[in-house]
Amino acid sequence: MCGIVGYVGSRIAGPLLLEGLKRLEYRGYDSAGVAIMNGKGVETRKAAGKISMLETIMVGNPVAGTLGIAHTRWATHGAPTTTNAHPHVDCKGNIAVVHNGIIENSTALRHWLEDNGHTFVSETDTEVLAHLIEASFDGNLEEAVIEALHMVHGTYGIAVVSSLDPQKIVAARMGSPLIIGLGENEFYVASDVSAIVEHTRQVVYLDDGDLAVLDRTGYRVIDLEAQEMTRTVSQVDWDLGQIERGGFPHFMLKEIFEQPATVENTMRGRLLPADSTAKLSGLNLSDDELLSFDNIIITACGTSWHSALIGEHMLEEMTRIPVEVEYASEFRYRNPIVTPRTLCIVISQSGETADTLAAMREAKRRGARTVGLVNVVGSTIARESDGGVYLHAGPEIGVASTKAFTSQVVALALLTLRMGRLRAVSAVRGAEIIQALMALPAQVQEILDQAEQIEHLAEQYKDNSNFLYLGRGFNFPAALEGALKLKEISYIHAEGYPAAEMKHGPIALIDSAMPVVFIAPHDSVFEKVVSNVQEVKARGGRVIAITSRDEPQLAGLVAHEIRIPQTIDMLTPVLAAVPLQLLAYYIAVKRGCNVDQPRNLAKSVTVE
Ligand code: AGP
Repeated sequence: MCGIVGYVGSRIAGPLLLEGLKRLEYRGYDSAGVAIMNGKGVETRKAAGKISMLETIMVGNPVAGTLGIAHTRWATHGAPTTTNAHPHVDCKGNIAVVHNGIIENSTALRHWLEDNGHTFVSETDTEVLAHLIEASFDGNLEEAVIEALHMVHGTYGIAVVSSLDPQKIVAARMGSPLIIGLGENEFYVASDVSAIVEHTRQVVYLDDGDLAVLDRTGYRVIDLEAQEMTRTVSQVDWDLGQIERGGFPHFMLKEIFEQPATVENTMRGRLLPADSTAKLSGLNLSDDELLSFDNIIITACGTSWHSALIGEHMLEEMTRIPVEVEYASEFRYRNPIVTPRTLCIVISQSGETADTLAAMREAKRRGARTVGLVNVVGSTIARESDGGVYLHAGPEIGVASTKAFTSQVVALALLTLRMGRLRAVSAVRGAEIIQALMALPAQVQEILDQAEQIEHLAEQYKDNSNFLYLGRGFNFPAALEGALKLKEISYIHAEGYPAAEMKHGPIALIDSAMPVVFIAPHDSVFEKVVSNVQEVKARGGRVIAITSRDEPQLAGLVAHEIRIPQTIDMLTPVLAAVPLQLLAYYIAVKRGCNVDQPRNLAKSVTVE
């Protein structure tokens, strides 16, 4: 939820840390701060609001020093104020801590520390860490951090500096992502590669329970018993260009327009037309193992949960295996029925969503084989799942997920093809699916070519305060996704529903002020959708229909129409998602919303 970056080397740390924070701003952006060793002690700068506020302060009052840590926040405990911004320091200001996660027993620890003479200044859970380290300090920083962490319950990614042991940064991870970046005689710690990819592509992914000690001569990884640990050095395959806006006004629009390429990347090297099937080498499952599963659970959150619903439909139809879709936050605390014959598919763009990670661990604990559909290479879910499918959609910076969604649906279609061809899908059917998949990139481009028309449409609906999105079959989840996109970036209240559900209540909402977006491609349930459009029209609703061909039956019923190319039913959500993303984007921009960093949201929800 928050972003952490640290640097030790020979260059001035301040500007490097600020640049790193800017690249992490999509993780949290309500307050920020730095702590830098200035040769005499720890010097901090903090500000509420965007990183630009902190930058103004640091330009006006720069801090010298070649070692420091920094943080951009998404508040969990205490309002986003300068006082609650990180870093937090101990009583004497010798120790500074930045933290991503939640200290669950912070109240009890705070009382104990206050009873032992410590004085607190903030409302945060994090501040207890600075005082715990102070209380444990006996000349060596990492030993004090270890002692402090033994008293802590909860999740953390932390970085710590101290004027009492001034040549090092100590970092530790439990539940929140943290990586080490290896440069030429300089080293970095960061919540993700985007903060440091400008400087190095050599990274070490820390595991839960790892501590790292960085200084100008190198780094080492130890565990919470101070035992040396060996960790692999990985090469990052993204470059800086991929995490810059590339001339687009917003990351979200750039990522929407990347979809012809990203959908293709998800399929690249994975289609086997000769056998009418797909090849997913990372699955780590043999044909026999794939045939051994008698039930599938798909778990995820948010947009990823919407693609899971589409996956359920695909997999049940093509493999005849019962599939359950679970909100990860519910699944982790329910007593689910999971057996060694359960395949648990875990979907997450970031690969770090706390609820999804915990749900996967719960399924594993109960004997399921886990497969992660993940976009971020090296993320925790990717590393802990038994096998997986990387989306290869490239970095997704806009908080509202777009290209990851379409790539998730394509990845699910590949998995369905792989499993289906072992069971109920004929070679002819398989070939049809492959042909439709290969046509997608050009078809997505066809829709993007209508962006201007969709922008005009947005002008007519930007002042509405409610929206309904309706679809059937594969497109009910697409309706949910369309509603979520509008909600999260324009703050307009919107709901997605199965079109036939309207009669059971929501139709009461329909009047001339209620725009209703119907996802109505010419698929196997189109006729049924037509009658739902008639129901809405009869009550004065303004209908926007996404169609895939001329539909005389809709004549006179629809106020506005957006055309998408025709494809097979199971892939229509990929095409329907694009105009839904564009409509939400243009409405939000016209309402003056911060599209890339919508209020109250963050890109990766690493706390529960
Ligand atoms: C979607 O636009 C949101 N950013 C959010 O719902 C997101 O899908 C959810 O937090 C899950 O994230 P993940 O895919 O990274 O696990």
